[in-house]
Amino acid sequence: MDKFIIEGGKRLVGRVKVSGAKNGSLALMPASLLAPGQYNISNTPNLRDVWTMSRLLTSMGAFCELNGNDLFIDSSNITSYEAPYEHVKKMRASFYVLGPLVARYGMAKVSLPGGCAWGPRPVDLHLKGLEKLGATVEMESGYILAKADKLHGAKFHFDISSVGATGNVLMAATLAKGTTLLTNAALEPEITALARMLVKMGAKINGIGTSILEIEGVDELHPTDEETIPDRIEAATFLIAGAITKGNIEVQNVNPYHLTTVLEKLEESGCKLDVNADTIQLEMDSDPLPIDITTSIYPGFPTDVQAQWLSYMLKADGLTKIKETIYADRFKHVPELLRLGANVELSDATALVRGGKHLNGAIVMSSDLRASASLLIAALVSEGTSEVLRVYHIDRGYETIETKLKALGASIKRVKTDLI
Ligand code: UD1
Repeated sequence: MDKFIIEGGKRLVGRVKVSGAKNGSLALMPASLLAPGQYNISNTPNLRDVWTMSRLLTSMGAFCELNGNDLFIDSSNITSYEAPYEHVKKMRASFYVLGPLVARYGMAKVSLPGGCAWGPRPVDLHLKGLEKLGATVEMESGYILAKADKLHGAKFHFDISSVGATGNVLMAATLAKGTTLLTNAALEPEITALARMLVKMGAKINGIGTSILEIEGVDELHPTDEETIPDRIEAATFLIAGAITKGNIEVQNVNPYHLTTVLEKLEESGCKLDVNADTIQLEMDSDPLPIDITTSIYPGFPTDVQAQWLSYMLKADGLTKIKETIYADRFKHVPELLRLGANVELSDATALVRGGKHLNGAIVMSSDLRASASLLIAALVSEGTSEVLRVYHIDRGYETIETKLKALGASIKRVKTDLI
């Protein structure tokens, strides 16, 4: 198993290119099940979760090849309609195959994802939506069995705005007979990007980019080439890393429109930003001001950046309130940050950060993807050496993060360890 060894105290300076969005690719890849044929998806991040999705599609009979950041998928010979537990347990996004399989092949057997490091993560909305479109859904031995001779259009309201459920039901509705109206659909850019790809495949979707999607089902779709949008969460992670080290960095290959709330908060905290069409220059010459955040659905402050922001606020002199409204228990990074000397109290899905305390390097353990990013960020400004264990979490969603951080001047190396 790998760990990172970080010497704190280095200022980040230079340019960093953001990869394609992990959550974008994970939505686009299953769309290839909707129409047999060949797909080229460029700007695909070469990272663990994408490999997991490739393995899942391959286990169903597809051919997937990732050359650098160019992903080729051939879905001409799908022979299995099953997403086994071994894949779904590694990555919840595997659940995305459910909608396309039922819509295109009339059946799917997909393992229930179960909980995750930060608590229960239900899939009821995915299932209700598919049932509304006419699928029968049963549970057997931890698997969802969904069937439908032919899905039909329907009206479906998402009681909670859900990225995954919107993606799943949207994909299914493209091949349903008649019109589907989805309300309170997720607005996240990765879903908008999925809808755009579906349109390129021949789907008829109105309202893209809004929370009301109207889908006129078609008899069949065709393959397409697509480019994955930039990873807004990776971009935010580097911006925060730059800011906490009082650095001067340019983040390239970003879509600043996808980051408006994060950029606003960075400016409030004292950063100077120069925002262009696809680059963001950040300069910071002081410790940040304490700036509260409340996570919410897009375009609000992303839950996927909450952990990184919390680390950033460890350097803010004063009290910061960090409220989590998407996943109440998503604070597994906090006990590890305490080991570096942080002063953080948790209650009612809120972290109270008393910042400005001296941070000292320590051994800390990653518990999930974004928590690991927050530990790296804190380690960058902790005095002395920190070791971040269980790096496989960070490898799920960040492409060569240590290479990128090193190029910006961080002292970070990846080494093998027996510690788990
Ligand atoms: C996606 C992202 C994840 C991000 C999350 C919220 C991917 C692969 N993952 O996850 O990185 O943290 O969005 O932005 O894109 N919910 C239900 N019932 C459901 C589905 C969801 O109650 O059937 C709830 C969840 O518990 C949560 C909220 O809805 O409180 C939002 O979750 P959702 O948007 O579905 O997250 P994911 O798609 O799993």
